[in-house]
Amino acid sequence: MNSSELRSKYLNFFKKNGHAIIPSASLIPQGDSTTLFNTAGMQPLVPYLLGKPHPAGAKRLVDVQKCVRTGDIDEVGDDTHLTFFEMLGNWSLGDYWKKESIIWSFEFLTKELNIPMERLAVSCFKGDENAPKDEESSEIWKSLGIAEDRIAFLPKEDNWWGPVGATGPCGPDTEIFYWKSNTIPVPKSFDGSDKNWVEIWNNVFMQYVKDSNGNYVVAEQKNVDTGMGLERTVAILNGFENVYETDLFEPILKLVPDYVDEKKKRIIADHAKASVFLIADGIVPSNKDQGYILRRLLRRMIVHMRSFGNDVFTPIMKVMEIYKGVYDFDEQYILSIVKQEDDKFEKTLAAGLEEFNKGTDPFILFTTYGFPIELTLELAKEKNIKIDLDDFNRKLSEHQKLSQTASAGMFKGGLADHDPKTVKLHTAHHLLLAALQELFGKQVKQRGSNINQERLRIDFSFDRKITPEEINTLENIVNGKIKEGLAVVKREMPLEEAQKIGAEMEFGVKYSDTVSVYFIEDKDGNPVSREFCGGPHVTNTSELGHFKITKEEASSQGVRRIKAILT
Ligand code: ALA
Repeated sequence: MNSSELRSKYLNFFKKNGHAIIPSASLIPQGDSTTLFNTAGMQPLVPYLLGKPHPAGAKRLVDVQKCVRTGDIDEVGDDTHLTFFEMLGNWSLGDYWKKESIIWSFEFLTKELNIPMERLAVSCFKGDENAPKDEESSEIWKSLGIAEDRIAFLPKEDNWWGPVGATGPCGPDTEIFYWKSNTIPVPKSFDGSDKNWVEIWNNVFMQYVKDSNGNYVVAEQKNVDTGMGLERTVAILNGFENVYETDLFEPILKLVPDYVDEKKKRIIADHAKASVFLIADGIVPSNKDQGYILRRLLRRMIVHMRSFGNDVFTPIMKVMEIYKGVYDFDEQYILSIVKQEDDKFEKTLAAGLEEFNKGTDPFILFTTYGFPIELTLELAKEKNIKIDLDDFNRKLSEHQKLSQTASAGMFKGGLADHDPKTVKLHTAHHLLLAALQELFGKQVKQRGSNINQERLRIDFSFDRKITPEEINTLENIVNGKIKEGLAVVKREMPLEEAQKIGAEMEFGVKYSDTVSVYFIEDKDGNPVSREFCGGPHVTNTSELGHFKITKEEASSQGVRRIKAILT
């Protein structure tokens, strides 16, 4: 089954079951938004999930929504992360509930897509202080024939979805997994850590609204929000290893010569596609916000295409050909924007090229002229010049370590200054980083810091200005954690284990085999913050007083800076 067949089968199935088909919204969120792009099908529907009547006059909706997730840009090229993807979604706006939703998902998968039930497993919400264990969903799954061993009850980290940003509709979910391997028999029980179980569908039961104080308030309207990844589902239906083998990618990959590294091919395909859709939705390359993301995508694609001497327009045109009839493109306009950016990039590179010809060290080319190392290698190959890549890598890692030490300052081995005010600000710094990630996503990383007795300063990766409302939310999140009076605990552990639990670490710093990690957990033991750190810290967040952000500004491209105090 190809992508067009799946789109129409999905829409028709839910139409038959009383859903109004609505068009995909733009990739760019309309009105106030905490994200640069629509990251899920429900995002453009938030006002209706909160009770506003939908203009289609319906309480059951179905669509195929264009989505962009940029948190994973550096992981693009592996088997699962895509920048642009389409999400098949169906919604109940205060209409049907768990039973109908689960039965329809099951029926669609097993009857319309003919997926054998033996290959399916599900997970349900385990329950915590915010919401009870979801026995109801589990009973419905059992009544459909899903074996008890194929139903896992998992905590909030796995089986809770939303809100997007700090506040809004959210709730427990039930996720459906497909066993993809044809060589290993389907196990009797479900184990989420086995990569052969691929998540294909997520049914969220949105009966809560998270408010700005971090409370989960029972919603006035109970909604169902579901999402199924189009690319992934086409891949499993065809028995493919990954999405790049599907009709949505394969024709782009084919444009690239065989000898080119597979990951490079995938990056070209992914970035070309995301670029086309972003330009089509009105974004132009720039140095901020969505425009900056587009610039990075285009330039990375350009560098890779050039590395084997091909032009940048072929993959762009192929993307438009693949989606013809599904989405409308102004081909000439899109090509003209790509051309403008290609020309601009060419000029930036021209200065670097001149230096290259003078025999300038590849490392200087990279740091001073922004000349990508791939390009240096390629040019050197043409001219039969040998480049010492080990030397480049050594210098680069020293450089990263140095700038790290400079920017991280006293943070590296812990805090040199044990003054009580500084120590308090140090703990507040951990809470702020956690709040930034809660609000904007885990991809926000610390890029530098400095703390004295008066204030803390944090530099972090983020590419747009933070709004006054968001500043407010960050302050509320941190002050909330202070009020809760949470213990701050230091644990020594093997480096490997600390990495496994995802403790925040500093980029470029070399750690020893045993590290110390500072944990702040909420009253139920859910992680609030986990950071590699030498300390010292206060022992309880209640010691901190009141947290206030005093300044928010740009630090460098793609890096913002916040200064904050405790009063
Ligand atoms: N909103 C849910 C998701 O994105 C369905 O997984």
